[in-house]
Amino acid sequence: MNVQPITIDEQKTFDGVSFPLVLAPEPGSSGELDDFVAWISANAKELKAQLREHGAILFRGCPLGSAEAFEAVLEAGDFEPMPYVGGAAPRTQVTAKRILTANESPPSEPIPFHHEMAQVPKPPGYVFFYCDVAAERGGETAIVLSNRVYKRFVEIDPDFASEVERQGVRYVRVMPDQDDATSPIGRSWRSTFLTDDRAEAEAKMREIGTSWTWLDSGELHTVTSVVPAIREDDRTGQKTFFNSMVAAYTGWVDSRNDPERAVILGDGTPVSGDAIRKTAEAMTEECVAFPWQAGDLLFVDNRLVLHSRRPYEGARRILASIALA
Ligand SMILES: [Fe+2]
Repeated sequence: MNVQPITIDEQKTFDGVSFPLVLAPEPGSSGELDDFVAWISANAKELKAQLREHGAILFRGCPLGSAEAFEAVLEAGDFEPMPYVGGAAPRTQVTAKRILTANESPPSEPIPFHHEMAQVPKPPGYVFFYCDVAAERGGETAIVLSNRVYKRFVEIDPDFASEVERQGVRYVRVMPDQDDATSPIGRSWRSTFLTDDRAEAEAKMREIGTSWTWLDSGELHTVTSVVPAIREDDRTGQKTFFNSMVAAYTGWVDSRNDPERAVILGDGTPVSGDAIRKTAEAMTEECVAFPWQAGDLLFVDNRLVLHSRRPYEGARRILASIALA
């Protein structure tokens, strides 16, 4: 089996490089999962190089049909698995090893652009999505090149941008005691730290530099360590808008959390809501959003690309996974 680049209407081209790269089986290919997995295995190194160049790869029309097939592809691609510790979203484990559902927060609510787990010291290098069931309407996983967002951010408010770059930011979040499916940040401390033991949760927070307060309600108030908001990708030298400022400021809202306080500068001062809102608009202008088709597989280089989810109607099942490298 061989795959080849194709074009889709939603694709963009920046400096002659397509975003995302879209690959599909050559006409007459076998349609066997084993052949596709073998192709991935044979091209594992090249795929990582293409992810670095293009930021994202969409596989369309490839013979996938299950979470297990998705997992087999990631194994064949030699992507190093990592546990989902510290993420904010409600999720369900699908395979024992590495596949979860994508964020299960309410369909009517958009999930703003973010780098996966940007708030932890060692975020995943890659994030993967597999479309099991496409929504009837909407539900695109829109993607945007982070270097382009960084450039727009600096144009929008150079002074604020330089403070953000110099100081870094902290995220403030109250986690529920039990998973709350009605909230976009409803992941309980138990699910977040994969334990029911407070001492174990505390040990994990200590490890990542998060400070905490247990509330009487059983909820957990957390403040992360100072984390860089602008990063330089060591492979490409690109500066990236590597933070969850937009997601936190526009999206971390529920009965426990005030989004305008969800992100602060490293020294504790408030952020510029105006600059963040304008940067969110710039992301929408720069992004690519393609309607999912069942069987689509999307590889995202999490160091270079932000992703989001648009609101949707009807059944939708997108599976997800992350890899360290
Ligand atoms: Fe995400």
